Amino acid sequence: MPILQANSLCKRFGSTPALQDLSLEIQAGSCYGLLGPNGAGKSTFMSIVSGFLTPDSGTLSLAGKQLDPNDTAQKKKIGLSPQHIALYKELSAEQNLKLFGKLYGLSGKTLSQQIEYALEVAQLADRRKPPVKEYSGGMKRRLNIAAALMHKPQVLLCDEPTVGVDPQSRNAIFDTLLQLKSEGMTIVYSTHYMEEAERLCDQIAIIDAGTILRTGTLDALLQELPRSNLIRARASQLSAQRQADLARFGALSRDAATLELQTAPDFKLSSFFHWAEEHGLDPTHFQIARPTLENLFLHLTGKALRE
Ligand SMILES: Nc1ncnc2c1ncn2[C@@H]1O[C@H](COP(=O)(O)OP(=O)(O)OP(=O)(O)O)[C@@H](O)[C@H]1O
Ligand SMILES: [Mg+2]
Repeated sequence: MPILQANSLCKRFGSTPALQDLSLEIQAGSCYGLLGPNGAGKSTFMSIVSGFLTPDSGTLSLAGKQLDPNDTAQKKKIGLSPQHIALYKELSAEQNLKLFGKLYGLSGKTLSQQIEYALEVAQLADRRKPPVKEYSGGMKRRLNIAAALMHKPQVLLCDEPTVGVDPQSRNAIFDTLLQLKSEGMTIVYSTHYMEEAERLCDQIAIIDAGTILRTGTLDALLQELPRSNLIRARASQLSAQRQADLARFGALSRDAATLELQTAPDFKLSSFFHWAEEHGLDPTHFQIARPTLENLFLHLTGKALRE
């Protein structure tokens, strides 16, 4: 049985449809990626799951039971790390966590234990005292996630948790999420970045304009792409004649520095390399790329995941 199930969720803001008949199933203990561009409906979905927004129609169920925003026991099973940092800037990490813990009804020993746990998760145990306004973007993000864990939720909703963080904090966030997952937590992760979805998520939903276009594992999703290869070369390494020759192998696009070849269905790598050898071209001039979710998004929607 899935831990979280959405059935035909619809939500409009005025004339803007934010979610249109959105259905999905998330298995317990998995990391589920919501991959989509600006305005796809990722945050709207998370706000509905965490009870901050009410859908116009459709239902949600948690562990097989219909989710009721007034049911506090159910609400405690869900933690939201919102897209926009929700922390008190004048307060320290410790004071912020205390406040969030109290909001969830924690007190006494449980509260202090959870504060220590959350500080460890955020890797801020030794930076617990300074006010949050003195933190880097990465530290704030880590604390923003840790605050969502104070009440020991079973499902953690992470809304674009790597925006505005340095690469080191980004890795720290990935490590934290993988650790939480290994401890059995279910994670819902929204992002614009296909690399993140590819790295972290067991299941990925590609979402655009409030609709789920496809769901599946990374491998299953990539199977949907037409069988073709992408071959890149630097323009400076090929004469004008050789650049023109490439068009015989497929669709050629170019900018000033790079040539990109989307190979034709009858393409054979062996003939390509034979051609290169015949013309004395070093095979290391060519880079063969595997298809990505970016290509799939383009294939499904005709537009790029990020403008
Ligand atoms: N409170 C609101 N009032 C009016 N329109 C809204 C509101 N919240 C969201 N929308 C609209 O609903 C649509 C979905 O927005 P949502 O924030 O869920 O997208 P998102 O996938 O989270 O985008 P982003 O990647 O930019 O965070 C967008 O067209 C957005 O403009
Ligand atoms: Mg959003």
